[in-house]
Amino acid sequence: MNNFEFFNPTRIIFGRGTIQKLNEHMSQDAIVLICYGGGSIKKNGVYDQVISALNGREVYEFGGIEPNPDYDTLLKAIDLGRHKQIDFVLAVGGGSVIDGAKLVAAGIPYKGGDPWDIVTGEKEVALGEALPLGTVLTLPATASEMNGTSVISRRATAEKFAWESEAAYPAFSILDPTTTYTLPEKQVRNGIVDAYIHVVEQYATYPVDGKLQDRYAEGILLTLQEVAQKALETPPDYDARANLMWSATNALNRLIGKGVPTDFATHMIGHELTALYGLAHAESLAVVLPHLLWYKRDKKGEKLVQYANRVWGIFGTGEDVIREGLDKMVAFFNSIKMPTRLTDFGIDPVEAAEKLQERFTERGTRLGEHKDISPADVASILKMSC
Ligand code: NZQ
Ligand code: ZN
Repeated sequence: MNNFEFFNPTRIIFGRGTIQKLNEHMSQDAIVLICYGGGSIKKNGVYDQVISALNGREVYEFGGIEPNPDYDTLLKAIDLGRHKQIDFVLAVGGGSVIDGAKLVAAGIPYKGGDPWDIVTGEKEVALGEALPLGTVLTLPATASEMNGTSVISRRATAEKFAWESEAAYPAFSILDPTTTYTLPEKQVRNGIVDAYIHVVEQYATYPVDGKLQDRYAEGILLTLQEVAQKALETPPDYDARANLMWSATNALNRLIGKGVPTDFATHMIGHELTALYGLAHAESLAVVLPHLLWYKRDKKGEKLVQYANRVWGIFGTGEDVIREGLDKMVAFFNSIKMPTRLTDFGIDPVEAAEKLQERFTERGTRLGEHKDISPADVASILKMSC
């Protein structure tokens, strides 16, 4: 097992009716900026629960944070926060709202210039340099509620970048599975697939005898497979939603990736596909991952065989077993109506391959746990997505 440090300061408050505990976890004199998205929280009663729990506090609101949160929108929230002398940011929504709120919390006190520097990594935000952040999660998918990552889009330049900092971990996150009951089926599907792929990216590399990390990862994958259909059903099933929510949080709260190699190439490629073609985050991953894993089967072979054995009960070794395991993964995604080819979205794989190869070449990007996925390899992988 590799050496590692693990840091995760986020308090999780999980279960039915937990939004009412909001007040207990913020200092009494905090001036709060509530950040939210396009209005789902106003329709499903979550907003009312939050306002009622914050009763008596000085509270301001910033709504309209879009899926794949846009930098220009977040600048407006930062301006508001500075003007109102906010000292606590509360995100209420999905990963986009939480990621956006992380930049708002870091951007309000940032005196150095353009907060875009934070997104590009030019300005590193040290612990204590951002305002404290709390979240009320309404969409299980990203684990942003329990990690220090924030993914910001800039539509003006068709860019999408992730930044991270210990300062960006939420102080607390409230996870009430009943808040997910109003999610459209497509968003539940996206959440299942995003979480599943987070796990695979921290698992399908090469073995370093991280026994617990492997079992934990396999446990999350098996749980997602087990609850997926039930989680998609209407009327919503509490236990299925609770298991999905906690699985998604554990998929990327950074624990399973400690002490083992990770490969977030699929995410790096997916972010570009979202920026260029507007695919939803999970869609952009599902059209890449199965092809990337097959393309890299020489280096990832041992873990892919283990995946087939332990997650799907396909025994044996060799390429046939790897192929069968990956076919099962694709069948699982398709069974919850998630397409796995660029052509399913009307995107020409050859054109996408050329565009991404050009972008990654310009930036000198090399991906994968061995940094051996070149821009030309990315192009080859995308051409398989048909
Ligand atoms: O904006 P509102 O009106 O709230 O509607 C949202 C949005 O349209 C809706 N929604 C959320 N909760 C709802 C609901 N609708 C009904 N009932 C509810 N309870 O769902 C839509 C999608 O929301 P969004 O937040 O965009 O989805 P998700 O949580 O999948 O977040 C995606 C973003 O997270 C980034 C992605 O790149 C993307 O920008 N990621 C962040 C990561 C992180 N911080 O660690 C890791 C991930 O890999 C990912 O990259
Ligand atoms: Zn993701």
